[in-house]
Amino acid sequence: MVTSAWPYINYVPHLGNIVSSILSADVVARYHRLKGDDVVYVTGSDEHGTPIEVEAVRLGIPPKQLTDQNHKKVVDLFEKWGIAFSNYTRTENPLHKKFVQDLLMKIYDNGYIFTQETELPYCPKCNRFLPDRFVEGTCPHCSYEQARGDQCEACGRLIEPTKLIHPYCTICRSTPVMKRSKHWYFDMPKFTDQLYEYIKNNERLPENARNFSLNLLKEGLKPRPVTRDNKWGIPAPFPGAEDKTIYVWVEAVLGYLSATVEYFKKLGQEEKWKEYWFNKDAKTLYFIGKDNIPFHTLILPALLLATQEDYNLPWNVDSVEFLMFEGQAFSKSRRIGVWIDEALQLFPADYWRYVLISTRPETKDTNFVWKTFIERVNSDLNDTLGNFIHRTLAFINQHFDSTAPKPSKLGGQDKRTLLSARKTVEKTAQDLEEFKLQEALRHVVSLSHLGNRYLNEKEPWKTLKTNPQSAANTLYVGAQIVKILAITLEPFTPFTAEKLWQLLNLPGNVHEQAWEETEKDLPTGHKINEAKPLFQKIKATEEELQRMLEKAKSDLAR
Ligand code: MF3
Ligand code: ZN
Repeated sequence: MVTSAWPYINYVPHLGNIVSSILSADVVARYHRLKGDDVVYVTGSDEHGTPIEVEAVRLGIPPKQLTDQNHKKVVDLFEKWGIAFSNYTRTENPLHKKFVQDLLMKIYDNGYIFTQETELPYCPKCNRFLPDRFVEGTCPHCSYEQARGDQCEACGRLIEPTKLIHPYCTICRSTPVMKRSKHWYFDMPKFTDQLYEYIKNNERLPENARNFSLNLLKEGLKPRPVTRDNKWGIPAPFPGAEDKTIYVWVEAVLGYLSATVEYFKKLGQEEKWKEYWFNKDAKTLYFIGKDNIPFHTLILPALLLATQEDYNLPWNVDSVEFLMFEGQAFSKSRRIGVWIDEALQLFPADYWRYVLISTRPETKDTNFVWKTFIERVNSDLNDTLGNFIHRTLAFINQHFDSTAPKPSKLGGQDKRTLLSARKTVEKTAQDLEEFKLQEALRHVVSLSHLGNRYLNEKEPWKTLKTNPQSAANTLYVGAQIVKILAITLEPFTPFTAEKLWQLLNLPGNVHEQAWEETEKDLPTGHKINEAKPLFQKIKATEEELQRMLEKAKSDLAR
């Protein structure tokens, strides 16, 4: 079960959003499919909650109109980015709403929901309560001045809106008053011991997720209100809560389950989703950014435990650090950063996928800079990968009549090179299994370094005349490495991998192959197609790229 954080659909996502979630999950899902594992990859548009409502209020349109537009846009964009979901759905879908309501009622019936009347910020000018992102102020923990009503972006802590210092309404900037309102609370503290055991015993959890969660547990969990006074959202199912909606995070994390239900329902296998959520052999993998940690390591597990139905808790939560853009945080209002629609106006998806995974912020916040983008594309993709593949295939076209050369009596270096390539495939697999995607991709590129060095040393253009069998052996080894590249590139750059598969003139498409195909020779006598370059060098400077981006922003009417 592969999942990634559901993008808020107030805008289309930016590069930082997808590298931590959707893209990383896609790479891992694709790898496991090649491995022959039974993979279901689900996520969808996160349509409710104040991020959407605040934006809709600003645009002066109904929230549903906003999410309809953007959902349609991102479905198309994700396809262009080559994201192979099993199901990309949305939280407005009726099946999700009913699933969430039923599950929360179960928790209610189990006695884990109680009501309480409290004072909450209310804007007298806008005439509304100010939940979550409708209110901002200074964080009581770290003094960040634009902390939101539910979570501080700077220190990541969960916040109670009444604790904000100098609060203000994000719509009209007035200072809110306090007004009493009754809400339904989820009794998180009841799960402290179970959650502690779960976190402590889950050795796969990355350091950041583990430490953050253990800290929150040590500080002591608080009951979390699961209802809101907003109109936009899923109606709360509790008796007496008819005018309330469900807190967006509580329902969105349950989307992982409802999206699986929906997927199998569409396939006409209504009960099958349970194999992925109850069977203890099923592993659930989550790909998220670090700001999402507490919702996935504590709130979701607590909700699942509260059903008392033995759901699988997250097997691993891969939570990467932040991606910065040229040293600054992504900001739509300040036009800093690249959004996934703008990106495709500039370069093919595989260029972005490649650079993003190779700079994935796995252990620390990482900076996206144009300089690196150009370097990676030109030196890794074009000069190393592209070059090795092209010279190998073109040589076979030219000197072997496009026919896979037949090996005979391989020499020591031939054998060592093949062996080294196979070892690299194993390392790639190992790293992918541990979510070290950056390192895995480096291994793949190193295959073409290996190949280039080997060709340079063997000089088949010379041996062609002096020792034709040696030249044939060299190109045989070269062709195997090219084939290995087609398979191992598939998770990272699926479009290029498929093009390469076609150049090799192999049957079917690369996506439906098995990882073990890397161990199999090209059949002797097999005809390949005419070599064509897979990448193009970027000639533009950093400044020119930035200008191209500005133009894309205007073209897309930003
Ligand atoms: N929409 C949230 C964000 O962009 C992520 C939601 S993840 C989910 O930060 F699990 F709750 F869906
Ligand atoms: Zn803070």
